[in-house]
Amino acid sequence: MKRISLFFLVTGFLIWGCKQQHKPVAIDAYNYQIVKHDTFQQAAVSSAHPLASEVGRYILEQGGTAMDAAIAVQYALAVVYPNAGNIGGGGFMVVHTKEGESYTIDFREKAPGSAHRDMYLDSLGNADLTKSQDGHLASGVPGSVAGMELAHQKFGTMEFAKLIQPAIDLAEKGFAITEREAKGLNRYRKDFIKYNTQTPAFVKEQGWKANDTLIQTDLANTLKRIQKDGAKGFYEGETARLIVEEMKRGGGIITEQDLKNYIAQERIPIVFDYKGYEIITMGLPSSGGLVIQQMMEMIKPYPLKEYGFQSKEAVNLMVEIERRAYADRTEYMGDPDFVDVPVAKLLDTTYIRSRMNDFVPLKPSKSEHIKAGLGKEKEETTHFSIIDQYGNMVSLTTTINGNYGSRVVVGGAGFLLNNEMDDFSAKPGVPNKFGLLGTEANSIAPGKRMLSAMSPTIVKKDGKPYAVIGTPGGSTIITSVFQTLLNILEFDMPAYDAVNKPKFHHQWMPDLIHVEKSFDPELRKELEAIGYVVKERANIGRTEVLLIRNGVIEAVGDNRGDDSVAGL
Ligand code: DON
Repeated sequence: MKRISLFFLVTGFLIWGCKQQHKPVAIDAYNYQIVKHDTFQQAAVSSAHPLASEVGRYILEQGGTAMDAAIAVQYALAVVYPNAGNIGGGGFMVVHTKEGESYTIDFREKAPGSAHRDMYLDSLGNADLTKSQDGHLASGVPGSVAGMELAHQKFGTMEFAKLIQPAIDLAEKGFAITEREAKGLNRYRKDFIKYNTQTPAFVKEQGWKANDTLIQTDLANTLKRIQKDGAKGFYEGETARLIVEEMKRGGGIITEQDLKNYIAQERIPIVFDYKGYEIITMGLPSSGGLVIQQMMEMIKPYPLKEYGFQSKEAVNLMVEIERRAYADRTEYMGDPDFVDVPVAKLLDTTYIRSRMNDFVPLKPSKSEHIKAGLGKEKEETTHFSIIDQYGNMVSLTTTINGNYGSRVVVGGAGFLLNNEMDDFSAKPGVPNKFGLLGTEANSIAPGKRMLSAMSPTIVKKDGKPYAVIGTPGGSTIITSVFQTLLNILEFDMPAYDAVNKPKFHHQWMPDLIHVEKSFDPELRKELEAIGYVVKERANIGRTEVLLIRNGVIEAVGDNRGDDSVAGL
């Protein structure tokens, strides 16, 4: 067991909630550890922040289920991990219950009612992506609060007030920030000032350093309104009024009606077999599940294990598969409530296999020659994984898109809004923040959900819970989950290696392989020698994996962040 400790100065040992009606939450917000991996006998949580994982553990310890813990962790992340944790964004939740049923909840943001196809084009018809990425116009109508309410109505066993209480305490009483968070807040300080008319809690005159206390009073009050009135405490009343006032001050377009109209939706999960493993993942409006199923089906006939982990043959094969699947994503995928996505055809085994007919081993194709296959027929997100002592599993990915979203904090309400509108295709042929292209299928329309890559995933083996996997990373989410799945299912890696081994990524366009810094330099040379363009980039993903082997849960939080595990 490897533990990386952060010994924060003890500025006070807090036993929270002493004066509250809810049971005290014994979590020390000033003296906590980042636990990179551990094993647990009964239940486990892996999330992007140690305090959020602790909150999850606490709920599980009270007898709550993975779904109860997920709601508490989602709210805790909204406080302790403002880069991506949120109530001002959206996400997807994949649930597998102890009874053996699978469910997914779509709480993706929606375009406001007055959004329109060309809203980011200037008078010359050029896309102005600063507007889809920064400030008030970049936000879709947030979905997280409605999503958690739906999750609670469907699965909750504990009182909602108790699940949100730890987040309220963290916001109200504060917590010690990590060094990484301090750096992030300092890096975005200029934006926090530029995009806000009222100085948010994230701006500190002298700059932030590790162990400083972050108190978020406005956010605590917003969370209390949600605690009292449920989703209505967000989409109506005081919070809605504050959001709309913020929009008016900053030239945004979200209205009271948009907030009132927002609904989270249950969707049919994507479920498929991979060599005896049952994979359960998210369908549209996330492209994640469809693209993962396509890639897993394409790779099935090849002896990947024989090729060896990150051998030239394996990387060549995976890159060519990724290229083909992302071409289909670009062409066909969008919100299924608005566009007719040919899902059955895209998932037809004969079709998927035919995509590899022109694959010649060790001969890179060119993306300009690889088109979507059906012919004319037409940085910042976070993930957490939870397994409970009853046999339930939750895989949940949530986002405000960029780091700290649009950087707009709702004045008086204390939370960051997303810049998810950039996940639409502002104009065909114009790449978004993640270099992704899109077509009419993912164009902007009022009330439409922007296409996502988020891929919360669950795996069963012999009908029993086996793994919970997911990650942030924009367009690299899908290929990260693909690689993590193969690391476990093909290469039998321990969860720690499956998460932390170097990753690579190809997304059709631009036509190059992105690799992490730690990627084998010799292999890189070999790939270049056969004609690939290889480019180094910052970390790919921050993957949270729980894997059940021999009756024990291996829990891993990615080394690429402050990710941390907890459990029973
Ligand atoms: O939904 C999506 O695909 C993106 N908004 C995810 C953004 C993301 O993962 C950024 N994090 N690193």
